[in-house]
Amino acid sequence: MAKRSSNTATKAVDNGGEEQTAACRVGLIGFGTVGREVGKILCDGSRKGLRLTHICNRNVERKKQPWVPDDVVWTDDPESVMRSDVEIVVELIGGLDAAEQIVRKALAAGKSVVTANKQLIARHGPDLLQVAARNGCQLEFGASVAGGVPVLPALRTGLCGDRLHGIAGILNGTCNYILSRIEGARIPFSEALEEAQARGYAEADASEDLDGGDARAKLAILALAGLHTRVLPESVRARTIRAVDSVDFDYAAELACTIRQISRADLKAGTLFAEVGPCLVPSDSPFGRVQRNLNLVLTSGQYGGDMAFLGAGAGGDPTAVAVVSDLMFVAQGLAGQRRDATSPVSTPAISSDFETAWYLRFFVRDQPGIVARLAEILAAHGLNIDSVLQKPGFEKSSLPFVITLEPCRDSMLHPALEQMSALDFNIRPCLCLPILR
Ligand SMILES: NC(=O)c1ccc[n+]([C@@H]2O[C@H](COP(=O)([O-])OP(=O)(O)OC[C@H]3O[C@@H](n4cnc5c(N)ncnc54)[C@H](OP(=O)(O)O)[C@@H]3O)[C@@H](O)[C@H]2O)c1
Repeated sequence: MAKRSSNTATKAVDNGGEEQTAACRVGLIGFGTVGREVGKILCDGSRKGLRLTHICNRNVERKKQPWVPDDVVWTDDPESVMRSDVEIVVELIGGLDAAEQIVRKALAAGKSVVTANKQLIARHGPDLLQVAARNGCQLEFGASVAGGVPVLPALRTGLCGDRLHGIAGILNGTCNYILSRIEGARIPFSEALEEAQARGYAEADASEDLDGGDARAKLAILALAGLHTRVLPESVRARTIRAVDSVDFDYAAELACTIRQISRADLKAGTLFAEVGPCLVPSDSPFGRVQRNLNLVLTSGQYGGDMAFLGAGAGGDPTAVAVVSDLMFVAQGLAGQRRDATSPVSTPAISSDFETAWYLRFFVRDQPGIVARLAEILAAHGLNIDSVLQKPGFEKSSLPFVITLEPCRDSMLHPALEQMSALDFNIRPCLCLPILR
């Protein structure tokens, strides 16, 4: 009963007999960090085209707020929102199963959906976009990547005239906070993590962030929206940042570089090269300059060249702005059907076999001939050493040094790494990072 196409605004007749456009009815499901901020924006009276009519959350009584108008319905039953005359459902509960059910039911009922749920969109985005298109409604997820940074709307509108072939980003604020703190204060990884947790930038169990799970879900969404490729997050290799040591920043500095967690996807001749993990990047590059918990996304297009998007990647307020922007986009019926829903989506082969220069950091028990043995293995695999770096002042029993390699494919380096790691003078696994120039 609430269904109206995105291009056809509901008309109401006022007392003077003139037609006016009625506000679009919005139901909010999930009234937590982001949901509450979305509610505040919708209730501040400045968005005439949007009217918050329902707020749904489990055990909703404890969520009630004095600033919410009396005519808003509070409920803990998502089904009652589906049965109502709400036109746009905002899913902000997070997680997978319950959120997926809510989104599917809303779309099946002809209601458009706005969500900030990266895990849901990364796994089911292509399918849900089709369901939305079949039901004549919209699915928007602009807040699911880079929080308040409007990179997904830019891919949908400002850059859709280009043909993008590459997207790279600092997509996880927790990792960027930790790496830039190690860089700035030369503290151990464990101390930087504790600090991030104390400041609320990292969860108690931060594995999803540190090991790349969060960033690769976002990369899958960017690849869908910008490169029109269907990528399962699990098919993208993710390397952890846990092994990065403060000494790596000293060696990176020798190479005029620093270290950041980079998510990158390059579409080349039908193969999507994609990976998430710590990389060396030039200190004076856009990536090298991103500090603390900010996000940066760079896009590369055939015609428009490179574009950069920088800003707050998380937080209730910036994320709520992205959600409300999506709501306005749907309510104003600006787009008709989403481009993503109608553009053909390809399913390319996924590869992490990038060709780059490499940084290899060893921690060894010192003995004569170490470099010669490593050089022999590298030469046997056809790999060229670019430089050998060794800083003075370390114990001979735990000596760090670095070998950098000229560009080669990951697949060429891998067997050599296995052989080098088996040598008995190693006291830690070799840390191997791509150098992005
Ligand atoms: N926070 C950010 O900075 C940020 C940034 C970008 C994207 N996002 C995304 O935005 C979404 C919401 O994040 P958030 O930080 O607002 O999470 P949150 O603070 O945990 O809020 C989720 C809310 O949903 C409620 N809820 C959970 N499961 C429910 C269910 N099955 N039925 C009804 N209510 C349920 C929770 O109730 P309880 O109070 O009982 O837990 C809570 O109030 C997530 O998808 C997240 O990934 C968040």
